[in-house]
Amino acid sequence: MVKTTISVIKADIGSLAGHVIVPDFLMELARKRLKEGVQKGIIKDFHVANAGDDLELIMTHDKGEGNEEVHKLAWDIFNEGAKLGREKKIYAAGQDILSDTFSGNVRGMGPGSAEMTIEERKSEPIVVFMADKTEPGAYNYPLFKVFADPFNTAGLVIDPNLHQGFTFVIQDIKRDTPHYVALDCPEELYDLLALLGSTGRYTIKKIYRRDGLVAASVSTDKLYQVAGKYIGKDDPVAIVRAHSGLPAMGEVLEAFTLPHLVAGWMRGSHIGPLMPVGMKDSRCTRFDGPPRVIALGFQVSNGMLLGPVDMFEDVAFDISRKRAMEAADYLRRHGPFMPHRLDDESMEYTTLPGVLKKLESRFSDKEIVPTGKAADNSDSAE
Ligand code: F6R
Ligand code: MG
Ligand code: MG
Repeated sequence: MVKTTISVIKADIGSLAGHVIVPDFLMELARKRLKEGVQKGIIKDFHVANAGDDLELIMTHDKGEGNEEVHKLAWDIFNEGAKLGREKKIYAAGQDILSDTFSGNVRGMGPGSAEMTIEERKSEPIVVFMADKTEPGAYNYPLFKVFADPFNTAGLVIDPNLHQGFTFVIQDIKRDTPHYVALDCPEELYDLLALLGSTGRYTIKKIYRRDGLVAASVSTDKLYQVAGKYIGKDDPVAIVRAHSGLPAMGEVLEAFTLPHLVAGWMRGSHIGPLMPVGMKDSRCTRFDGPPRVIALGFQVSNGMLLGPVDMFEDVAFDISRKRAMEAADYLRRHGPFMPHRLDDESMEYTTLPGVLKKLESRFSDKEIVPTGKAADNSDSAE
């Protein structure tokens, strides 16, 4: 059986007209360098896409996960692109490159990555989700629905191959070093939800069928933890396999029909709906959003990628987009008020603490009664 690794490595290395889209010259550079990567035998095949301002490198190879050569190929593209971007003065050129030196793989260096190694089945349909203006926990809700909710995935009830359920590997992304826990579903469904509901802390890393077959992989890289300060959301990617003993492609996509609320949007500081869009709408405009997700479907065939199919570019998702924009419009009316603006703990790594610091010295343990000295009301008093 053919063993193939799918590596999706992404970074925001600069964009056009603000944080909106990856310019064509960066997409072309990526295609050129990845083609050379194929010629050198580093990767087998690739597809380049953009999720708004994030450059997405979808690659296949036979070198396994976290492979130095593959990660270096991506790292070099991001660095060369950032240099070119700086010369052309595109916006936020080099944003996600947080290290001067490469140390084996891109993890902890700024770019995000989701990878999985599969034994190719007789036929291997996959879908790659790529989101902009949100965080890794954005996939908790839809992936829970796909792999654990029988109201979403009919196969969990009907298909004996899925009936055993799935094991979720969850990562606590708030710890300094990665910590994981594995929970079996349906038995530990309530424990699973107790964690997954905290989208800012616990994120799905991988999902396995009960016989050990890997079914999904998510990027869990946290930029602010690497940089120690706010430099943008982590704009996560996920790879999901479908069919033949796994949820059908339609069951996978069904979970994205509710534009559920996620953290991110403007300045990474707001709650907004995750809107499923086709490639042509992969650009965050209104209030830098609303957060968006694209889905590209492929057949993995002897290490090659057949496709893509632009999954959300379909009238079937029009109603979800309309719902998303209604929710966006409603939330925007709240302006700087919670819960549209994130809670204090989530704002810790944004630019807000800088503003609050200035006010700190003016707090008193006595109630303050303004003296009114500043205004001269003498005329009106008589
Ligand atoms: C969100 C994001 C944008 C920026 C915002 C301010 O992840 O990237 O919403 O935070 O446009 O951008 P700067 O600080 O570059 O002016
Ligand atoms: Mg950006
Ligand atoms: Mg982005």
